[in-house]
Amino acid sequence: MLSVEQNQRVTQTCGNTPAGDLLRRYWQPAALVDELAGDRPAVSVELFGEQLVLFRDQKGEYGLLDRHCSHRGADLCFGRLEDGGLRCPFHGWLFDIAGKCLEQPAEPENSKFYQKINHKAYPCIERNGIIFAYLGPGDPPPFPSFDCFVAPEEFTFAFKGHIDANWLQAVEVGIDPAHASFLHRFFEDKDPDEGYGQQFRDSTDEIPVTKLLREVVRPIIEVEETTSGMSIKTLRDLGNAGMHVRVTNLMFPNAIVIPMSNEMTISQWHVPINDQECYWYAIFTDFERKVSRQEMRDQRLELYTLPNYKPLRNRTNAWGYDPEEQRAQTYTGMGMDINVHDNWAVESPGSIFDRSNEHLGTTDKAIIAYRKLLLSAIDAVALGKAAPKQGAALKGPLSVDTIGPADNWEGCWIECDMARRDRSPWAKEI
Ligand code: FES
Ligand SMILES: [Fe+2]
Repeated sequence: MLSVEQNQRVTQTCGNTPAGDLLRRYWQPAALVDELAGDRPAVSVELFGEQLVLFRDQKGEYGLLDRHCSHRGADLCFGRLEDGGLRCPFHGWLFDIAGKCLEQPAEPENSKFYQKINHKAYPCIERNGIIFAYLGPGDPPPFPSFDCFVAPEEFTFAFKGHIDANWLQAVEVGIDPAHASFLHRFFEDKDPDEGYGQQFRDSTDEIPVTKLLREVVRPIIEVEETTSGMSIKTLRDLGNAGMHVRVTNLMFPNAIVIPMSNEMTISQWHVPINDQECYWYAIFTDFERKVSRQEMRDQRLELYTLPNYKPLRNRTNAWGYDPEEQRAQTYTGMGMDINVHDNWAVESPGSIFDRSNEHLGTTDKAIIAYRKLLLSAIDAVALGKAAPKQGAALKGPLSVDTIGPADNWEGCWIECDMARRDRSPWAKEI
């Protein structure tokens, strides 16, 4: 439980807010490369309540600028992409990706007024299908060396989805390992060969993950602080069949890395659009095989609509809830796509849940540990100290789903990770 004041401190990120100030000190996803794939690579972006325009110039470099022209505020999303920048259609002022004003064509011939204009601009960097931006003060931190960034592009697939609730609710669902036995319960186990590109559809040592999640509902959860955030080990005792170990991670401050299948991991950021909405951005990373991008994209486009990546099942249609389905077929009554289940868990508490009304139990261990980390980092940055846990040295993190022998399971996750890296054409030891 948090006090009302603490809840505001951790959830509010717009304007001059302490949590916004912390999150801005990390590279954050701003858009998918796919969103700028058309003839006119320019899109509107809202981050931390700030209205921005993201564009690609003729050299192929990305710029993220204040959406409103420095002259008289016209909307640069309607700008002309020409002459090495983005030109405002109102009076023709031209801006480059760094926010430098290059031309003011209606001003007198010898005017140097253009040199006085510094349009607000943020640095961008493209990594495996996502354009990341740095919205904080000073120089951006070095980019981390996580697997999802180190992997060659063909071994990755990036996607995003809209969430109609505060960013922290989304992170807290991602670090809650107990819910998978309930919220994502499947009454029947599918053939894992048919589960490509989907979470919880693989099998671990021949046991379908859906079966072991369904049968062992009281996991032991261990949380450990790491160089990149937190490692969460979820242990499910399968008796003679061994110990199921699922290792997931919180990459501080607002991302998770979790196993999706035996070969693939999901690295997922929850980025505030404003305080009532966020986007999840994910890089799906395969250790061994090139990713079937079209198949993964088609699967996700069954739920998400373009251009805003909003889900078809959402708050406005009760997530497609069907009581008859819930009685006879599924745990939630909201279909088979686990993204819908998670969206309901994130969105149904309300846009910004008042955590002074909650009652945390033992399964909420990781959430409690994370909030401590978050509050202390917010306090540190507010006092002028450096933002914690960032930089090029951050690797991995180790993220697996495996079963260890009943009498000797300790450390089995490390062996599983090492074996996977041995088989991988690109992943080095961490
Ligand atoms: S408002 Fe943009 S050039 Fe005048
Ligand atoms: Fe979930």
